Amino acid sequence: MDSSREQMFTSVEKTTHGTNKQRVLILALVVGVGTFAIGILIGRFATCPKSEPEVSKQSSLPNVIDLLGRDEDASIISEVIDEISSENIRDHVRTLAKYPHIAGMETSHELARMLKGFWENAGLDHVTLTPYNVLLSYPNMSDLNFVALLDENNNTVYKSNLTEAILTAEENTTNVVPPFNAFSYPGDIKGDIVYVNYGREEDFEYIEKNASISVAGKIVMARYGKIFRGDKVRLSEMRGAIGVILFSDPADYTNGDINQVYPNDWWLPPSGAQRGTVYIGVGDPLTADYPAIGTANRKLDPSNYLPSIPVHPIGYGIAIHLMRSLSGPEVNVTWRGLMNTTYRFGGGFKTTGWKARIHVSTSNGRVDVFNAIGIMRGEIEPDRYVLVGNHRDAWVFGAVDPGSGTAVMMEMSRVLGNLVKSGRWRPRRSILFCSWGAEEYGLVGSTEWVEHYTKTLGARAIAYLNLDVVVQGNFSLLARGTPMIHNSLFAATKMVPNPNSAEFAAGRKSVYDTWLMASPGKRGIPSSTKQSDRS
Ligand SMILES: *[C@@H]1O[C@H](CO)[C@@H](O)[C@H](O)[C@H]1NC(C)=O
Ligand SMILES: *[C@@H]1O[C@H](CO)[C@@H](O)[C@H](O)[C@H]1NC(C)=O
Ligand SMILES: *[C@@H]1O[C@H](CO)[C@@H](O)[C@H](O)[C@H]1NC(C)=O
Ligand SMILES: *[C@@H]1O[C@H](CO)[C@@H](O)[C@H](O)[C@H]1NC(C)=O
Ligand SMILES: *[C@@H]1O[C@H](CO)[C@@H](O)[C@H](O)[C@H]1NC(C)=O
Ligand SMILES: *[C@@H]1O[C@H](CO)[C@@H](O)[C@H](O)[C@H]1NC(C)=O
Ligand SMILES: *[C@@H]1O[C@H](CO)[C@@H](O)[C@H](O)[C@H]1NC(C)=O
Ligand SMILES: *[C@@H]1O[C@H](CO)[C@@H](O)[C@H](O)[C@H]1NC(C)=O
Repeated sequence: MDSSREQMFTSVEKTTHGTNKQRVLILALVVGVGTFAIGILIGRFATCPKSEPEVSKQSSLPNVIDLLGRDEDASIISEVIDEISSENIRDHVRTLAKYPHIAGMETSHELARMLKGFWENAGLDHVTLTPYNVLLSYPNMSDLNFVALLDENNNTVYKSNLTEAILTAEENTTNVVPPFNAFSYPGDIKGDIVYVNYGREEDFEYIEKNASISVAGKIVMARYGKIFRGDKVRLSEMRGAIGVILFSDPADYTNGDINQVYPNDWWLPPSGAQRGTVYIGVGDPLTADYPAIGTANRKLDPSNYLPSIPVHPIGYGIAIHLMRSLSGPEVNVTWRGLMNTTYRFGGGFKTTGWKARIHVSTSNGRVDVFNAIGIMRGEIEPDRYVLVGNHRDAWVFGAVDPGSGTAVMMEMSRVLGNLVKSGRWRPRRSILFCSWGAEEYGLVGSTEWVEHYTKTLGARAIAYLNLDVVVQGNFSLLARGTPMIHNSLFAATKMVPNPNSAEFAAGRKSVYDTWLMASPGKRGIPSSTKQSDRS
């Protein structure tokens, strides 16, 4: 057992921004003397058994053979399955999604401390918060972002709403960040709009070759979907666009009936806009490949792929005003969405002299973000780590993304922790429960942590299970993984009784059975080919 190594995921609440030489010296002395004293004590008590000479006559590793050969305990597995409570998971989602908790905000730090307390109570052996000081991006709350249409005299004929409509009483709270794209370049620009469908490589090629329209010097208007939004911006920038408007089309974010939207249903309402990062790298943009700790050398590496043009996201209730005003040929059927207007390529406006304007005041700044790490020490191979994790930060409330995953992780740790507390069971390997900060900005918290502990993790981590967005829809499990983990996923889901009574009655007794029915793949196993679009 080597619990001292686990303590290395340092438990500190603040990053140090520069240190005082004297304090470092004193600290070094104290640590030096302390280590020396501990060494003497270990030498005295751990290696000089007083009165058990028979131990040395036996095998040098008593019980190891038995332990290594021990099979899994089916009664423990069924106890874990029975103990998981959907009521608890529901309560956790409410706690986690009660307030907006964007990365870097105090409410997000509070949730990190809440999880630390939760895991300490749950019986985990060691819980720490690891802080990193990273570059994030926020809109200026006294100068909000918008898009507008200007007439030939530069008068504003249409201006987008600065915030989303408040549709239920629960949403009526402070600190809801208005729609913005993180790491957008700030600016106030004017130009013609060109509609580029999803803004994929093939969309740009098509518009250039077949419609003979160039986006150089223009504002690109692209619908969300199919590829990562950061790539849409990158591809626009590479072709000389001066700004990007990203919108959610009802064809992609409703079931086709725009009356069946939130708050009556779960589909996107006209006022809803998708926030999201347009940074195409991962981790803190200032400390590429190294952890963003207090002593890090910070510089903005151009290869870190921050955009250099303004980008703003809007919903279809706003986008329709822009699309209606565009001139140019009507688009091919595959480019049409479901807004109630004719989709055109643009390049100009129906009224000569009109221009579109994008106003973005978003700016980047350094803030502290926290990961919470809870360790349940393994019994047989404590220096092999199985990591279970999810991010904690959300653009706004984050009930599904990421609350649903964190709620499940909390319930899992409670049930396993109870077994550890009872003394009847420990995991074979150590389990690390991880709650990451600033994922939405580009996997920032987790990337910094991995950069910080690369060597330890490289030698000891054997698997990582990510729980973000564990419910999507109301019907079936959706799980993906590297091929090595497929059989474990199949075996585990075959053991879990189907919680959906209609499915159970239809003969699909396990979670696996419904999964297979919902996502049939080749060779009679569930499909795992659906690709992530990082949205
Ligand atoms: C935010 O906008 C206000 C009003 O335009 C301005 O005075 C302030 O300097 C801006 N803050 C930042 C951080 O840019
Ligand atoms: C047009 O209006 C914007 C703000 O509405 C202003 O910043 C800009 O200077 C104006 N340009 C001209 C040419 O009047
Ligand atoms: C939000 O709450 C405030 C008072 O707290 C109230 O004045 C306002 O009408 C509410 N807005 C909505 C849309 O419910
Ligand atoms: C686009 O133009 C290319 C030739 O430049 C042609 O091969 C292709 O069929 C055209 N595609 C469409 C959708 O018109
Ligand atoms: C914009 O705000 C107006 C006034 O509050 C509201 O009537 C309209 O529905 C909003 N539109 C969108 C798309 O949010
Ligand atoms: C529309 O474009 C797609 C490719 O973008 C092409 O496959 C299709 O043939 C085109 N249809 C028409 C009617 O031009
Ligand atoms: C679509 O727009 C037209 C013209 O503005 C209007 O007459 C029609 O009712 C709209 N259709 C729907 C389904 O909203
Ligand atoms: C899932 O939700 C939809 C819409 O709310 C509903 O029509 C459907 O019956 C539900 N499916 C299941 C399996 O519960």
